[in-house]
Amino acid sequence: MAILKILHYPDPVLAKTAEPVTEITDEIRTLAEDMVETMYAAPGVGLAAPQIGISQRLIVLDCSGKDEPPQLITAVNPEIVEEEGECCEEEGCLSVPGYYARVDRSARVKVRFQDLQDRMVEIETEGLLAVAFQHEIDHLNGVLFVDHLSSLKKGIFKKKYKKILEQLEEQL
Ligand code: NI
Repeated sequence: MAILKILHYPDPVLAKTAEPVTEITDEIRTLAEDMVETMYAAPGVGLAAPQIGISQRLIVLDCSGKDEPPQLITAVNPEIVEEEGECCEEEGCLSVPGYYARVDRSARVKVRFQDLQDRMVEIETEGLLAVAFQHEIDHLNGVLFVDHLSSLKKGIFKKKYKKILEQLEEQL
């Protein structure tokens, strides 16, 4: 297993639409394992393959709380097939370090995907996991949470983020 480098906005790979995974090979399984290790090390609650520079439709998530057992989900070619309600929680992203903002999302979603054994899975969920699925599937469509901000808020973000990136580069 390996910890992979996470790309930061505005890396162009993050803005691309990812390709479907056509076959679940050993390479895909290894990639998924590395993504899981990278997500836990960050730490984060979700990671999409484009964030580590692989433009394929693969995400990993674990939204379990601190004192709960891990609830790891690896989803290949995930899609939202039903959604309802509204929520607006503060989100962050491993590809947008140091910035957090509230984003309008659906409160409940039904998601369909393949697992690593190529079985079709459907999950109906709400709360943090529902938000995380929407956030990670957005990544597969080249969309970041900051793309949901109003143009005024996005302008503020861009100014702040420039400083955040400068500070990060100084630390390296
Ligand atoms: Ni993200």
